[in-house]
Amino acid sequence: MVPSTLHRLFCLCTCLTLVQPFDWQDLNPIASVNASAWVNEIPSLMAVASLSQTGIPRGTGYYSVGCTDLMFGYTDESTFLRLYYPTQDDDHFDTLWIPNEEYFFGLSKFLGTNWIFSKLLRLLFGSVLTPAKWDSPLRTGEKYPLIVFSHGLGAFRTIYSAIGIDLASHGFIVAAVEHRDGSAAGTYYFKDQSDAEIGNKSWLYLKQEAPDRNFQVHKRAKECSQALNLILDMDHGKPAKNILDLKFDVKQLKDSIDRNKIAIIGHSFGGATVIQALSEDWRFRCGIALDAWMLPLGDEVYTRIPQPLFFINSEQFQHFQNMTKIGYFYLPGKVRKMITIRGAVHQNFVDFTFVTGKIVGYIFTIKGTIDSYGAIDLSNKASLAFLQKHLGLQKDFDQWDYLIEGEDKNLIPGINTDTTNRTLQNSTGIRK
Ligand SMILES: *[C@@H]1O[C@H](CO)[C@@H](O)[C@H](O)[C@H]1NC(C)=O
Ligand SMILES: *[C@@H]1O[C@H](CO)[C@@H](O)[C@H](O)[C@H]1NC(C)=O
Ligand SMILES: *[C@@H]1O[C@H](CO)[C@@H](O)[C@H](O)[C@H]1NC(C)=O
Ligand SMILES: *[C@@H]1O[C@H](CO)[C@@H](O)[C@H](O)[C@H]1NC(C)=O
Ligand SMILES: *[C@@H]1O[C@H](CO)[C@@H](O)[C@H](O)[C@H]1NC(C)=O
Repeated sequence: MVPSTLHRLFCLCTCLTLVQPFDWQDLNPIASVNASAWVNEIPSLMAVASLSQTGIPRGTGYYSVGCTDLMFGYTDESTFLRLYYPTQDDDHFDTLWIPNEEYFFGLSKFLGTNWIFSKLLRLLFGSVLTPAKWDSPLRTGEKYPLIVFSHGLGAFRTIYSAIGIDLASHGFIVAAVEHRDGSAAGTYYFKDQSDAEIGNKSWLYLKQEAPDRNFQVHKRAKECSQALNLILDMDHGKPAKNILDLKFDVKQLKDSIDRNKIAIIGHSFGGATVIQALSEDWRFRCGIALDAWMLPLGDEVYTRIPQPLFFINSEQFQHFQNMTKIGYFYLPGKVRKMITIRGAVHQNFVDFTFVTGKIVGYIFTIKGTIDSYGAIDLSNKASLAFLQKHLGLQKDFDQWDYLIEGEDKNLIPGINTDTTNRTLQNSTGIRK
């Protein structure tokens, strides 16, 4: 009983690795937890949590990193995002990683468990910090390239901070959107101005009834474009009010964005969102899909992406996926790159891999056989090299160009299944 529930816990955020590929029913289990069994397990889980000397890694780049939340507009059509950016002030506290109790409730719902389990999650992770200075001022005097980031199923805006922080430490502004398509474990909005003023949040949890994934991926792509619109508006100096009423002054964003250097990155369902958004919004000059979940995409997108596209895969996840769809993107004259991280699992891109102990993480496939810090470092450096090349940045990220080609002992060029790999090498593509 306990192990199977733990499995689900650590299957967070779109993990498919322990269930049949595409058997999403298993991720919305009806089964309830044996509460008394759980209460008995709490002490040992606490011990495991406290034994882990791990934590979300700091950025490896030159800039200090700040973090804030922005919400514009009311209702579930509003835009909500977490912003990571270069900051000039180190005199601020680190950021609370999962800032509301309701996210734990959402996670426990996603896992098909009950309120006791959400209390346990909160106990384990409720005070974890991520190494970015909360609400600190933007480092001004430079224009930064912009990344929009899209999260996976059952995830939300805050749990990809290792990626957001590392990019920001290398001089990017990163907008991690929170999707309102019913794919987030939880998210909130304010119905109107008076609700916002008294802080009366309306919560939206993961859609339980079989959702239309293609409809969702379209909505997700729109949300990415809408976030981009807003940030570019602020860059132009258009007055905007962050209804979250935080200290971070959005006027600082005026003239802060290098408007021709915009890209999109996402994980899993967010990887599909990257592809959808690239096809609809050519302001995104290139995209990086981390362990993309291909199922939500319609057939029309394959031929509609002129931009360079980089697939970074974990060994385990893509092994289960039908890679045929990825092959369709390999068209003549288009830049397509793909690498697979050896010994990595689907969860290696999500912060949970850093806040669980080695043994628990490995048993529950939240960690792979590769060291979690090493895996994210490879993914981040390969991403930086790709971004420099295709956004035309004047940085030194080209020192990692060899990673884009998969030239590292922990990387596989292309994919780990031989037949798909051979097909992908054929530059004429596999679709006539
Ligand atoms: C729940 O777990 C407790 C403690 O492990 C056990 O005694 C009890 O029989 C279990 N109940 C069910 C319905 O499985
Ligand atoms: C807060 O929002 C809920 C849900 O929309 C509503 O039922 C409730 O009356 C609101 N509370 C206050 C104090 O306005
Ligand atoms: C993979 O997907 C293609 C196209 O959707 C389909 O024709 C093929 O049967 C699938 N293969 C497997 C093994 O599922
Ligand atoms: C995939 O293709 C690359 C480049 O041709 C090759 O180096 C790699 O070994 C291949 N992987 C497998 C599993 O065959
Ligand atoms: C590549 O694909 C074309 C057309 O499908 C085929 O004729 C050719 O033999 C393939 N080349 C390799 C190296 O597989």
